[in-house]
Amino acid sequence: MDAFPSEPYSDLSDDEVFARIAAARAALGDDALVLGHHYQTEAVVRFADLKGDSYELSKKAAESHARLIVFCGVHFMAEAADILTRPEQTVVMPDLEAGCPMADMASRGELESAWVQLAELGNPDDLFLPVTYINSRAEVKAFCGLHGGLICTSANAGKALTWALQRRPKVFFLPDQHLGRNTALAQGIPPAEITLWDPVLPLGGNSLAVLRQARILLWKGHCHVHTRFSTAQVRQARQAHPEAKVVVHPECPQEVVAASDAAGSTGFIVRYVEAAPPGSTIVIGTEINLITRLARQYRDRTILPLVSSMCPNMYKNSPRDLLHVLENPGRVNVVRVADEIREPARLALQRMLDL
Ligand code: 13P
Ligand code: SF4
Repeated sequence: MDAFPSEPYSDLSDDEVFARIAAARAALGDDALVLGHHYQTEAVVRFADLKGDSYELSKKAAESHARLIVFCGVHFMAEAADILTRPEQTVVMPDLEAGCPMADMASRGELESAWVQLAELGNPDDLFLPVTYINSRAEVKAFCGLHGGLICTSANAGKALTWALQRRPKVFFLPDQHLGRNTALAQGIPPAEITLWDPVLPLGGNSLAVLRQARILLWKGHCHVHTRFSTAQVRQARQAHPEAKVVVHPECPQEVVAASDAAGSTGFIVRYVEAAPPGSTIVIGTEINLITRLARQYRDRTILPLVSSMCPNMYKNSPRDLLHVLENPGRVNVVRVADEIREPARLALQRMLDL
């Protein structure tokens, strides 16, 4: 036996893999739905029935009647799809190891500990509404559902924050501090009312006075793909292309968003490029596979990356992995969320879909 098992189907040529994917997909017909996130490579996403951002894909999964949902994305997305579908539907991923490091920056235990500490201010369930980015573990979503909170994506974080602040005086936003800060500032919340919660420090690194004054607590999490972008890169892009528009994802640091012309989800970025007139130049701060695809698709526009930044986890789903799950429908790489966290997590996701 090999010490290191080789990738499934490694003996096949790329052309054979693509032909077998097409055949396996056709054989499954309406029994399967292949969803592809915008950050997937072209070699994988070309086989997707639907492409989208996290919000669009979770909505499509919730509406689908297909028995098999093949989620080409990262683990939290497939978990959300499993939570939103019925028990007789099965969600699989090409590579189960495709995770999201940011989602792993908040655990249920750390969140429960935060709630215990926040009790020094009063009953946390009266004071704080948890708003959890979809880039989070299912058990964190379940905590959120049990405590009256909801899930958001980068496409609806503003609406989610408004919804939350109509119900409780303060919001506990996790795990992406950047999306949380960018959203709160865009809603007109002053910086003095926003504070960072570092889960490894007592009271998240805050005094009780700061916590009393704060309206928004931001979990200290980030996406390493988007924190690579800087204002220096925006300046350089503007010097090299004075006519260019700069559009970035709201997981970028606040100063990068402030220096850009627009910020939004991957779906927003796709629509921004679509709507730009031929001849225009757009510099984009997000994952490189999406930018490369847009540049190939819109050859009459100049589409450039702020800097090349790749999500290695999204990249883990290879065409051979996709072939593996399509030729073994429902038998391999199944993503199944434990029953005890499924219902409270669904509640939090449903509140987002109902927004
Ligand atoms: P979108 O919801 O904008 O597609 O973002 C998902 C993501 O993981 C961004 O890093
Ligand atoms: Fe997670 Fe960042 Fe990759 Fe998105 S780009 S899946 S947030 S690591």
